Amino acid sequence: MSVTADQVRSALAKIASPRGAPLVDAGVLSEIVVNDGKVFFSINVDAAEAKAWEDVRAKADAAVRALPGVSSAMIALTAERKSGGAPSPSSRPQARQGVPPASAHRPHQQPHGSPMAKQAPIEGVGAIIAVASGKGGVGKSTTALNLALGLRDLGLRVGVLDADIYGPSMPKLTGIREKPQLNEAKRMIPMKRFGLAIMSIGFLVEEETPMIWRGPMVMSAITQMLREVEWGTLDVMVVDMPPGTGDAQLTLAQAVPLAGAIIVSTPQDLALIDARRGLAMFTRVNVPVLGIVENMSYFACPHCGTRSNIFGHGGARHEAEKLGVPFLGEVPLHMDIRAASDAGTPLVESEPKSAHADIYRAIAGRVRDRLKIAIPAA
Ligand SMILES: Nc1ncnc2c1ncn2[C@@H]1O[C@H](COP(=O)(O)OP(=O)(O)OP(=O)(O)O)[C@@H](O)[C@H]1O
Ligand SMILES: [Mg+2]
Repeated sequence: MSVTADQVRSALAKIASPRGAPLVDAGVLSEIVVNDGKVFFSINVDAAEAKAWEDVRAKADAAVRALPGVSSAMIALTAERKSGGAPSPSSRPQARQGVPPASAHRPHQQPHGSPMAKQAPIEGVGAIIAVASGKGGVGKSTTALNLALGLRDLGLRVGVLDADIYGPSMPKLTGIREKPQLNEAKRMIPMKRFGLAIMSIGFLVEEETPMIWRGPMVMSAITQMLREVEWGTLDVMVVDMPPGTGDAQLTLAQAVPLAGAIIVSTPQDLALIDARRGLAMFTRVNVPVLGIVENMSYFACPHCGTRSNIFGHGGARHEAEKLGVPFLGEVPLHMDIRAASDAGTPLVESEPKSAHADIYRAIAGRVRDRLKIAIPAA
């Protein structure tokens, strides 16, 4: 029998809160969503109190997971800075709203000392690298997964964290339809596919479920996927970031102890402006940029093999030189890359001997060299 929201509520009634009242009466709980044994809700507190509530979140998490019929739980602690006492509007995800104009003055809202920022390394996990872009739809997710496979082909143990909680891509790109299992300690075990350990919020919720996340919830959800998942031993974790360089991305870049970032850009001038913003964002939070990948760099005709530069090829390489960051490689626009992704078996896996797979592996090699990761002894 599956669990109900009332049963979850009763379990939470036994938990005390820092405000004295039991958690359920403290006026901090969101709606409790129960969907086929999966439980989601958030605890919404003021940023100043966040530290004191982390323990409550952990207790709530344990209480919910202990309930019979609960297959997974995602309990987010959201710490919001109150502005003028007005209830904060449940905003639309910022990442889908595009990038603000360059002229917009953006105050630094998430200082390094944010109470939610936990930069401690993840046990067993080596280098964590973000694959990001200023602009949506440039091929981050495609690049992230194929790069992960390229790193795997170099003999590394690789994980993929889909940090795009607004529009997770990994279920589609990997064809994974199953849900992650819990281990004895009730920690989620990442999905294993193509020799990679993969985690995505998309494995936990139905594809049609609309997800509206407020800024702080994003961080909490990411932190959980990062720290409360049994990743095992990994040499590299590739994080597929949501598009954009807004606060959500900045927050995320600060939440994860990143060894470096890779910026994906198409060759057009406009995309490059966004790429520059992506670069600036990582520099601001002291994350080294490992380099730029030019995606959809040129069009390779599948019939005659002729190469045409429909987007004005080479812009990203030039830009990288200008900015003094390494250029990691160019990936052509090719139907095979798209078709492989759509079919749920990324190109490096489905066509390992193809020229395109070689390109991804070459990029992976440069990334590994820049990270100075040694190949583990077999
Ligand atoms: N080199 C390529 N050749 C052909 N198609 C590509 C290539 N790279 C990506 N695509 C296709 O472009 C589309 C967008 O790619 P993808 O989802 O990886 O972008 P994204 O930057 O992660 O998008 P979002 O910003 O929405 O997260 C997908 O349909 C993908 O299959
Ligand atoms: Mg994506």
